[in-house]
Amino acid sequence: MEEPLTVVILAAGLGTRMKSRQAKVLHRAGGRYLVEHVLRTAQALAPPERIFVVVGHQSAEVRAAIQTAGVGFIDQTEQKGTGHALMVAADTLGDLDGRLVILYGDCPLVRPETLRGLVAAQESSGAAGAILTAVMDDPTGYGRVLRDVEGRVTGVVEQRAGTPEQLLIREANMGLYCYRAAPFWRHIQELRPDNPAHEYYLTDMVEILRRAGDAIAAYCIDDPREVLGINDREELAVVDRLLRERKVRELMLAGVTIEKPETVTVDPDVTIGIDTIVEPFAQILGQTTIGENCRIGACSIVRDSDLADEVEVGQFTMIGTSRLERGAHAGPYARLRMENYLAPGAHVGNFVELKKTRLGAGSKAMHLAYLGDSEIGAKVNVGAGTITCNYDGYHKHPTKIGAGAFIGSNSTLVAPVEVGDGAYLAAGSVITDDVPADALGVGRARQVNKIDWARKRRELK
Ligand code: UD1
Ligand code: CA
Repeated sequence: MEEPLTVVILAAGLGTRMKSRQAKVLHRAGGRYLVEHVLRTAQALAPPERIFVVVGHQSAEVRAAIQTAGVGFIDQTEQKGTGHALMVAADTLGDLDGRLVILYGDCPLVRPETLRGLVAAQESSGAAGAILTAVMDDPTGYGRVLRDVEGRVTGVVEQRAGTPEQLLIREANMGLYCYRAAPFWRHIQELRPDNPAHEYYLTDMVEILRRAGDAIAAYCIDDPREVLGINDREELAVVDRLLRERKVRELMLAGVTIEKPETVTVDPDVTIGIDTIVEPFAQILGQTTIGENCRIGACSIVRDSDLADEVEVGQFTMIGTSRLERGAHAGPYARLRMENYLAPGAHVGNFVELKKTRLGAGSKAMHLAYLGDSEIGAKVNVGAGTITCNYDGYHKHPTKIGAGAFIGSNSTLVAPVEVGDGAYLAAGSVITDDVPADALGVGRARQVNKIDWARKRRELK
């Protein structure tokens, strides 16, 4: 029978090199918090009840970011180093047998396969533990792996504590470990902060176990890019780019055309149907689903929205928490701010803003309008410059426009107000009272022409 496996994720540090007020693991790459990526990888290895996250800096926010039932938390209120995090964790985990996999929360790219390889390396070597290493062109900042003449791992020396000679070693500790739980917990309290940083280094466990007569194996992987740890914003950008590349490549292989994919940002949970075209610099974010045969215009931002098949989003359009049915169009330069619904074939054109508005099938608002808290029936034409006055300074009020109505340009609809089916509003009207079905609503002063007025004025000069 396989031995049970416990995963611990270290996520308590502030991350000084980020120069941020926010805990490092709460920075985002590839559309997720760093710690979320690591947690997902951990979930491929162990059930949630066997996953523990060590939290400290902004622990409430880190817990909220994780939100996975069953996952346990351990508070490390003072952060005295990666080893200290495990010394604190010993109270909770010290009795759990089997294997212990330790991951750092700032290492979001690692794949479950790689961790399985690490566990297998520990198992097959019979060593008390295995550490994941890689030979790097530039290992600056990483701990260096020390080996004896026979090539056995004897320790890890940190950048700050290394001698010039040791710092020439290019094999680096990537910060992922698999230990047999029993010897690990037996020796964890032997860590000492006897280094220039006065921290308890988890990496010292290698030497401690060696001295106790236990071997430590190294699992050396070929491509260190997968296990890059993020320490500063430059590394954050590198990892973000790698994760974005993974997502757009997946979509392209699944039948989505992505123009200039290096400029496009797609969050991990987004789904897109085949033959949809995504133009350069588009951002498709959050829990968005897009159907087949759609077009997402250049520089558009679609967030947490559902687009059915054959939807067109013009350039520079923003869509948030909205649903667009088959054949609907929005943009260019439109803003569907929140909770809107476009029925099949509805069109929203340039410089139109919608908020909490339903636009019926085949209805159009093509230019320069604000429609807020509105319910608009099918086949309505909303003229340029139409404004719903939905806010009186205290409350929001609804506007209702019946099917087939024609809203003349520059109409001002003072809500709450209702325009009946098939009604017609004269251009430039201020509509303060309901307009019955099939009526004409005129809400403006009549035009007066003063004959010869202009000529006389000129002659007076
Ligand atoms: C660590 C390793 C180094 C390795 C590198 C790989 C140690 C001593 N060094 O260095 O050998 O090459 O990772 O990326 O382990 N954390 C806590 N509590 C603490 C301190 C840190 O939970 O008291 C967490 C941090 O939130 C972070 C992780 O541990 O997620 C790693 O800490 P970090 O300070 O980034 O370690 P490195 O200096 O990068
Ligand atoms: Ca790090």
